Amino acid sequence: MPTPAPRTDWSSASQLLHWLVAVLILVMAWLGLTMGDLPNGPDKIATYALHKSIGLTILGLALLRLLVRWRAGAPAPIPGTPHWQSRIATITHVALYVLLLALPLTGWLLNSTAGFPLQWFGLVNLPSLAARDEALHALWVEAHELLFWAMATLVVLHAAAAFHHHLFLRDATLSRMLPRGRRRARAHDALETH
Ligand code: HEM
Ligand code: HEM
Repeated sequence: MPTPAPRTDWSSASQLLHWLVAVLILVMAWLGLTMGDLPNGPDKIATYALHKSIGLTILGLALLRLLVRWRAGAPAPIPGTPHWQSRIATITHVALYVLLLALPLTGWLLNSTAGFPLQWFGLVNLPSLAARDEALHALWVEAHELLFWAMATLVVLHAAAAFHHHLFLRDATLSRMLPRGRRRARAHDALETH
């Protein structure tokens, strides 16, 4: 059997999961940074519950993403990319995957050490990961916050790199992470205007 040609773009599943997680991270950042200031009451409790449920969803999606990545693989670096750039990109991507797992886990741990129950959208009860402990709770809150800002910094650099490739280097780094339809439409537009 002939060996299949190496991938030149991301699988649809990888693309879908990438953008879904990116949107959910934005929603989570907004919820996380604003929910503490809400007046006490049922709305605040519901907002915290939503934050926790979406956070657990991200944990599940990150695991699914790693599975898809392992099964479907990744495209080779764009030809001509200097080795040091591919290295930095790989290190950033690994760090983002680690944070996509570690951030929800610290959320789960801070919730457990506060002695709060945990449900996923009111449908599934999740076990506590640790006993109630005030000192540890304060530590996990710190870790959750710190990991969030680490992720926010990396995401800004990561997105800036993607736009730099797209706008200035004019290579396919960003477009191969976008759905086929839009890429075809752009190629068509380019033909029309040249
Ligand atoms: C990728 C997923 C997550 C993101 C991006 C995220 C983001 C954040 C952010 C930005 C804050 C505010 C930190 C601050 O005080 O400045 C926060 C707080 C919080 N998060 Fe998350 N979170 C995630 C997952 C989770 C999960 C899975 C849980 C629980 C199961 C959780 C529970 C909490 C709680 C209870 C707080 C309030 C902590 C406190 O101030 O006492 N988070 N989160
Ligand atoms: C505007 C926001 C974003 C843009 C423009 C963007 C763009 C991209 C692009 C173009 C790639 C492919 C890189 C390549 O082929 O070498 C990629 C990969 C990746 N992105 Fe993003 N991204 C964004 C947000 C995020 C967010 C919020 C996360 C997670 C916190 C994230 C995590 C990743 C990871 C882990 C990879 C590597 C995929 C793999 O190797 O399996 N991205 N991103």
